[in-house]
Amino acid sequence: MQTVTSLDPLRNALTALRADGSIALVPTMGALHEGHLALVREARQRARHVVVSIFVNPRQFGVNEDLSRYPRQLERDSELLDAEGVSILWAPTAEVMYPIGYGTGVSVSGISDGLCGTARPGHFDGVSTVVLKLFNQVQPDVALFGEKDWQQLAVIRRMARDLDLTAPHADAIIGVATVREADGLALSSRNAYLAPGQRAQAATLPRAMDAAIAALRAGDEQQAVLAKLSHDLLTGGFASVDYAEVRDAGSLSTSLKGNDNHARLFVAARIGGTRLIDNKPV
Ligand code: PAF
Repeated sequence: MQTVTSLDPLRNALTALRADGSIALVPTMGALHEGHLALVREARQRARHVVVSIFVNPRQFGVNEDLSRYPRQLERDSELLDAEGVSILWAPTAEVMYPIGYGTGVSVSGISDGLCGTARPGHFDGVSTVVLKLFNQVQPDVALFGEKDWQQLAVIRRMARDLDLTAPHADAIIGVATVREADGLALSSRNAYLAPGQRAQAATLPRAMDAAIAALRAGDEQQAVLAKLSHDLLTGGFASVDYAEVRDAGSLSTSLKGNDNHARLFVAARIGGTRLIDNKPV
């Protein structure tokens, strides 16, 4: 595996790979866990070479968010990726990504609003901007993202369609199923923030979501189900609930247009200082 940290060496390395076959990109912020490795394994099935980017993108963190304490462990991440057969680790510095005078931002309206877009203003502008830059830098045939960040995946697909991207094409932006711990908690780099007691309580989130989904399937009234879900989280150790909503899985619209087959439950809640998100099909 080659590790590159600036653009010219990246372009040279990519030219050599491209001559040998297709390229998949897995964008990450590092602190890799089994969820990221599932993306890499799926990427290896879909392309000859895998490029993984690690960049903790300052533009997607709000002023009071966890940018400075976000876990950084490049050496360990690099060993994990090497063992997975990754061809290039692309690890630019903030100065390479956003040089002095940088002035361009991408904003995908509509689908970026609501859910995490309401709780984290500007977050998806930062995500869209850096992902478009990563796409342009690597020009992959296919790109893979985790379904845990379902709204992020929807925003990136919308951007690729809206801007007529070809590397990758919107249809080559692949979502990979969420990897979960034995107790159901979705893997996340932010789980590392949880103290042992909080970690045990965090499993309330997938459990309460499963109970809510069972109630919705049984025909219980949605508002009452979501109110009980929030109540379950608060009594189960969560400090607050940012949102608990049922939306259309594709458009993220709140109006399901009578097509409950595509309904999906989205939740974000805080335990101590840590914000956890999850989503599941209804
Ligand atoms: O999901 C993430 O880790 C990040 O939001 C991404 C897609 C790498 C952009 O910084």
